[in-house]
Amino acid sequence: MTALDEIKIGGLGASRKRVEDDRFIRGKGNYLDDIVLPGMLHMEILRSPLAHARITSIDTTRAYEIPGVHLVLTGEMMATRNLAWMPTLSYDTQAVLATDKVRFQGQEVAAVIADDPYVAKDACEAIVVEYEPLPAIVSPAQAVADGAPVIRDDKENQADNVIYTWEIGDKAATDAAFAQADLVSTMKLHYPRSHPSPIECCGSVADFNRATSKLTVYMTTQAPHIIRAAVALVAELPEHMIRIVSPDIGGGFGNKVPVYPGYVCSILASILLERPVKWIEDKTGNLISTGFARDIYLDGELALRKDGKILGMRMHADADHGAFFSDAQPSKFKIGLLHSTFACYDIPAAHLTARGTYSNKAPGGVAYRCSFRVTEAMFFQERMIAAAAADLGVDPAEFRRVNFVRDEQFPHRTAFGFLLDSGQYAKCLDVGLRAIGYEEFRKRQEQARAKGRLLGLGISTMTEPLGAGNSREYDILGIKMFDSAELKVHMTGKAIVRTGARTQGQGHETTWAQIVAHELGIPAQDVVVEEGDTDTAPFGMGTYASRSTPVAGAAVSMAARKVRAKARKLAAHLLEVSEEDVEWELGRFYVRSAPDRGVTITECALAAYSNMPDGLEPGLEATAFYDPPNLTWPFAVYIVTVEVDPATGVWDVLDVVAVDDCGVRINPMIVEGQIMGGLTEAYAMANMQFITFDAEGNCIGSNYMDYLLPTAWETPGFELHSEVVTPSPHHPIGAKGVGECAAVGGPAAFVNAVLDAVGHLGIRNIDMPLLPDRVWEAITERHDVSGAPPVRSEG
Ligand code: CDP
Repeated sequence: MTALDEIKIGGLGASRKRVEDDRFIRGKGNYLDDIVLPGMLHMEILRSPLAHARITSIDTTRAYEIPGVHLVLTGEMMATRNLAWMPTLSYDTQAVLATDKVRFQGQEVAAVIADDPYVAKDACEAIVVEYEPLPAIVSPAQAVADGAPVIRDDKENQADNVIYTWEIGDKAATDAAFAQADLVSTMKLHYPRSHPSPIECCGSVADFNRATSKLTVYMTTQAPHIIRAAVALVAELPEHMIRIVSPDIGGGFGNKVPVYPGYVCSILASILLERPVKWIEDKTGNLISTGFARDIYLDGELALRKDGKILGMRMHADADHGAFFSDAQPSKFKIGLLHSTFACYDIPAAHLTARGTYSNKAPGGVAYRCSFRVTEAMFFQERMIAAAAADLGVDPAEFRRVNFVRDEQFPHRTAFGFLLDSGQYAKCLDVGLRAIGYEEFRKRQEQARAKGRLLGLGISTMTEPLGAGNSREYDILGIKMFDSAELKVHMTGKAIVRTGARTQGQGHETTWAQIVAHELGIPAQDVVVEEGDTDTAPFGMGTYASRSTPVAGAAVSMAARKVRAKARKLAAHLLEVSEEDVEWELGRFYVRSAPDRGVTITECALAAYSNMPDGLEPGLEATAFYDPPNLTWPFAVYIVTVEVDPATGVWDVLDVVAVDDCGVRINPMIVEGQIMGGLTEAYAMANMQFITFDAEGNCIGSNYMDYLLPTAWETPGFELHSEVVTPSPHHPIGAKGVGECAAVGGPAAFVNAVLDAVGHLGIRNIDMPLLPDRVWEAITERHDVSGAPPVRSEG
């Protein structure tokens, strides 16, 4: 026997079909709402119709009169158990059920637990709440205006609406760079509030068993272990008596990271009633109250030298966090990893200031398919780069190339202190330009323009800090951001691998098995992957910020390597040679001096249970905790061409080219799926998606008539390129994260393309989404269209 064929056994590089899809396409997935427990009750939440109001009274009498109602929870009741407020993942507090005031439309005011969801909903309507309306704040400018009402008057020492001010970088060096500049280019933009909008809403089924004192909670969470700790601390229950099970998840995208009031209420209700209690949001509940992203105003400038070199960058961010600062991010960085902006460019000096404010909107700022504000960082970067190239009168592709971090500069320290691991930026750009036919398109564009047609080409290049992160710098509420994996090889050579991550559609059940196949030669089909149950899975910080492959995936590798090291001892014993004389090739150990004499990994597995050498612990299992030495930094180039109709402002996408370098691809087909999904979301952001609030704080966008999801009908085709592969030097298999890259880098490519089509008319910026009326206004009025999108009028 010789080494196994890695692709045939489904190892690294195999485009193995996703094993989880077998059950999904047969309708056999087990989502939260599929869970039915004996004696289960149902919970519905009464939400505030007003964005800002004092609660003068809550009367639940009529709700209790409805047959089938078991319990009505109010803030007052929660307060008696010290649960009216809960801590957030960002050192703030959040109301579980409102007591004093409501602070956003859709805020949780009461919860009814009843025999079925319809009775619970009817009973919610029977609750009488009296409100005294207060003026609403819907933007950072209003939040800091003189005389603005203080939203968080529940907090001692909170005299205004500012949550934090924060800065990073070298101000003096940046000022000096600007003093040297031949030209200063500016950009001011708004990244609108958006929603991850997973198909499955958030929910939980809490099941407290008085006899065993055990609390089991099935929950749509991307981070079950963190939730277990949070429940232990908030509800003051012993952690070992809490089991969080994250079943199949119908999409997460960051929406399922925070702790929501509904989870807490269902848990308390189950403890009080000693029956299982299910809560699942309806679509409006999800779209109005959970996990918003972005909502940020960005303002910055570049110091430029005549020859196109960027000397410095400064930027200010005004982030609207909503009523509670509850998005998760590494505690050292107040505004996530916004300071990853311009990381792929070699800029000597940079300075960033940020201010976070409260508003009368649902909590926002979640990392919607991005590594903590990287989407905003990259969007600003690429819009700024495009504008600066235009200001300098240089080619935007060449401008990027001149300023890229060069191959020989890695590892490269950015002006904000990140250490980029590896990359071939110029090569990716070349592949992209060739694929789109750059020179040819420029000629076509010119000819078209002469005939009054508007063609445009937009480039976006991005890098993303993925795999947060090393314990020196990254923690959430003090908990370091490592992950772990446990691998058990059974006596017949089949195996199970468990990690603390939680797949929500990314395909971990397929790809983690591929890593084991690569490390041990056990065919991927013989490895089952299990995640999401805190009673069985080892600890992990969860799946968000594309951290699974960089951290949990690396832990799988390391656990498999530990198993291999033990299997080597077994092999030496079976082959009757010393360990030093044993060599490894995929799936087999052999004697160095006699390569024909060998044993397979399967034979070693059997020996671990039947024929161990003296002194060797039986079994073939290992657990590895992986504290990543650094982040992984994938790179991508997205190029989009469009045609804009000057008469209507409608723009059609002609071509989209994506060149992604995410290091070694475990499963190329899954990676391509991730990129296509990300580009679809990017297109939606640029073209159609936003949530606005009117002056009273009413949320416009709480249904799919207002908040648009692109279908296959609108979504353009994508041409994907995978020829550039720069392994991460510190990841065990050289892989970098990829799940979010296209959603992060994509929006700027679409926007830059439209701006390229209309830029010669004196238009420098149109803020997202580029709705036809905004584009049309820009073209006809020959001016920028900036700021938060308008509130769509009725009808
Ligand atoms: O954390 P999350 O799973 O969302 O993101 P990711 O680590 O970027 O992985 C997304 C999916 O792509 C997973 O199934 C990965 O195993 C797969 N992947 C891959 O096959 N090769 C890579 N270099 C990166 C991710």
